[in-house]
Amino acid sequence: MTTQEEQTRSGLRFPTGFTFGAATSAYQIEGAVAEDGRGTSIWDTFTRTPGKILNGHNADTAIDHYHRFRDDVAIMADLGLTAYRFSVSWPRIQPTGSGKVNQKGLDFYKRLTDELRTHGIDPWLTLYHWDLPQELEDKGGWPNRDIAYCFADYAATVHEAMKDHVHTFSTVNEPWCAAFLGYASGEHAPGRREPENAIRGAHHLNLAHGLAVQAMGARRVGGCVNLYAITPETDSAADLDAARRIDGLQNRFFLDAMLLGRYPEDVLADLPGDADFIQDGDLKIINAPLDVLLVNYYSRFTVSGAPGGRQSAAAAPTDAGSPWVGSEHVSFANGGRPVTAMGWEIDEGGLVEVLTRVARDYPPIPMVVSENGAAFDDVIEDGRVHDGQRQAYVEAHLGACKAAIEAGVPLEGYFAWSLMDNFEWAWGYGKRFGLVHVDFDTQERLMKDSALWYAEIIRQNRTHEPTDS
Ligand code: FCB
Repeated sequence: MTTQEEQTRSGLRFPTGFTFGAATSAYQIEGAVAEDGRGTSIWDTFTRTPGKILNGHNADTAIDHYHRFRDDVAIMADLGLTAYRFSVSWPRIQPTGSGKVNQKGLDFYKRLTDELRTHGIDPWLTLYHWDLPQELEDKGGWPNRDIAYCFADYAATVHEAMKDHVHTFSTVNEPWCAAFLGYASGEHAPGRREPENAIRGAHHLNLAHGLAVQAMGARRVGGCVNLYAITPETDSAADLDAARRIDGLQNRFFLDAMLLGRYPEDVLADLPGDADFIQDGDLKIINAPLDVLLVNYYSRFTVSGAPGGRQSAAAAPTDAGSPWVGSEHVSFANGGRPVTAMGWEIDEGGLVEVLTRVARDYPPIPMVVSENGAAFDDVIEDGRVHDGQRQAYVEAHLGACKAAIEAGVPLEGYFAWSLMDNFEWAWGYGKRFGLVHVDFDTQERLMKDSALWYAEIIRQNRTHEPTDS
């Protein structure tokens, strides 16, 4: 055995049936923005607005996955993935966000999922990874309650067409980002800086989630949250309050609504406005039973209530306001850990913390880590990408998954973010998260060392003796 094999055998053995996946999203990879009847999304508009995306990049071509999906699925098969998490582009299915359905859009996802299943890869479909049809934004976007009902119609349409093709449906990817980066800080599309509307948007995204779960009826369905581990910089009252606030808005606002059917009182008290947009019965809808919770995890925040510090944990690529509505005074301290190319602190202990916290504080629910990964400044040398830092990041976080399982967390899978380098939102093509390197000029794909290593971990887990440990 090589050292790596020994290490894997002793260290990264998972229970039989554990899902080893990778994740992507439609706008970040597909391209083909004007093909086969696709409508315009808020990201098409946003990327055309000067100053919003680093270096003026757009995702008109992205990494051309729309045309290359068969090759990309072949790469997944080579990796031995047991599951693939992707998102559906709403404006491909309903070009104007409501009403008429574009069959060619559905056909693309049928071809994709057929191809996946031919290779024994379970399709995990996310309905919304931030590409709202522009016409719905023109009607007010997520701060408009009607959009939640449009989403439920869209969910029912996709579910009806795809239910025999998909292993697990999930609703809204990271509602925190969609609401607070889209409508408060303006770093993401549609780029509005309207703090009170961001809160409305957050509630309507939660409502959209619940309505979609109901609309999909009998199916395997999950909700997705992006959770952070949060530490107060000191034990001063101000820092403890800062930690409570950021944890409240980032984590509990979504977890409590989805899993407990209520909003945390302290968070509502922190927010501006009187939350009159929360109607009777909404929380019951948002609390619709789920089969699985999808947890995206990247980092830990160390926060302070003392005035004058950094306004976010890492530099924003473009001019943006604060996403922390009602808690704009909170600052983000340097926690002293190594960082990725995003400036995000690396802390696998935080993953154990968030998973055990959900298991402890909420009703029992199976979980998967639905995104986890790191950007680094990769280079090709002699036909290889030696991304040891990414490999170490994934290895450490898989170790955290194992520790969580051993601590009793019902964790059923792990999806690396991302399968391939892609369009990283406001950073354009400036940040590489892929296990697979993509040459953005030629579209050539190349497995990085981290991909080869991940494939070996998967292979060994698939062939080892069944274990319950
Ligand atoms: C997550 C997003 C994903 C990607 C990673 C790096 O917040 O869901 O699209 O941008 O961060």
